[in-house]
Amino acid sequence: MNPSITTIEDLRRIARRRVPRMFYDYCDSGSWTESTYRANESDFGRIQFRQRVAVDMTDRSLATTMVGQPVAMPLALAPTGMTGMQHADGEILAARAAEAAGVPFTLSTMSICSIEDVAGAVSKPFWFQLYFMRDRSFNDKLIDRAAAAGCSALVLTLDLQILGQRHKDIRNGLSAPPRLTPSTTIDLLTKPRWCWGMMRTKRRTFRNIVGHVEGVQDTRSITAWTSQQFDPRLDWDDVARIRDRWKGPLILKGILDVEDAVRAVGTGAEALIVSNHGGRQLDGAPSSIAVLPEIADAVGSRIEVLMDGGVRSGQDVLKAVALGAKGVFIGRPFLYGLGAGGEAGVTRCLDIIRKELDMTMALCGHRNILDIDRTILRRSDNAAT
Ligand code: FNR
Repeated sequence: MNPSITTIEDLRRIARRRVPRMFYDYCDSGSWTESTYRANESDFGRIQFRQRVAVDMTDRSLATTMVGQPVAMPLALAPTGMTGMQHADGEILAARAAEAAGVPFTLSTMSICSIEDVAGAVSKPFWFQLYFMRDRSFNDKLIDRAAAAGCSALVLTLDLQILGQRHKDIRNGLSAPPRLTPSTTIDLLTKPRWCWGMMRTKRRTFRNIVGHVEGVQDTRSITAWTSQQFDPRLDWDDVARIRDRWKGPLILKGILDVEDAVRAVGTGAEALIVSNHGGRQLDGAPSSIAVLPEIADAVGSRIEVLMDGGVRSGQDVLKAVALGAKGVFIGRPFLYGLGAGGEAGVTRCLDIIRKELDMTMALCGHRNILDIDRTILRRSDNAAT
């Protein structure tokens, strides 16, 4: 990739040119007014570091663990639906880039490539994310498929019992593969690289579902099935049942409130993710970084606290770690990388973040990520916590 691509924003700009409008918008948007989506990023900007000098900054280490598993830096790729529409075979490419970088990749229930497709393309275990569906036997089968494929953690998403309204997706008639209307056809003609990739792969719709649910075999039937499958009745008893079925580490995703964090501890899950789904669900909810400290204070000694939402640099990773996260997930940054340059783009995204994290830690006067706590932040920022 071009060496002048040095920020996540650079990757975003390129992805915007290369990915069809419908899928770029799906990635780069939030729900309703997008106020939570914007706050996720902007609230990071308000936090300031303490610059330290004349301390030994040699031999630095970013290595740590997430749910007890070694990671090269405190970061994982978040589960994102339709990743294989940002770039042909997107989930496979992102999983390979993550594996090479030594960080976990999380495959979404709503991925294009299936659990088995990804398992066949990587050599180390990846993580799987479950959406709780009305069809309980489908949930059970997915959990069993993830276990059979060797997935080493299950991320159970709790904040999508009903789907937040995303205006752009409705306007664009989002579907995978895209339906050909005059405007999508004109748009696709301007994205030849993307079209060429899609023509060469056989993975163009939701392969975790198609062929695994009776009567679901094409774009129309899958859209109908998924639109009524997210289960609005999901409750803590269901979480307990998932806990019983999945024997490996369980991570509860979408916690934004201390009371829910306390309930999460009671399930026996290994970790929770402070998350508002990247500002795609309850618009008007606080940013993840704003509530991270209070949740970490309340439950951090009893459950591993992770976070996502708005992380756009290694500096943001360090701020989240300082405020109590054992690790963070990134969604859009790696999707921009994927859209901009496939596997090499995701690798570049991870390289950018690693370098920024390492340099920032050093300039804060630290050599080991395991030593990071709130004292690296200016007092006003850690007092707010
Ligand atoms: C998501 N997210 C998501 N979460 C999940 O549990 N299952 C999913 O299938 C998806 N799909 C999805 C698609 C796209 C395009 C995006 C951008 C996000 C939410 C995701 O896991 C994560 O919470 C956010 O992306 C984190 O915010 P940032 O890093 O994108 O700001």
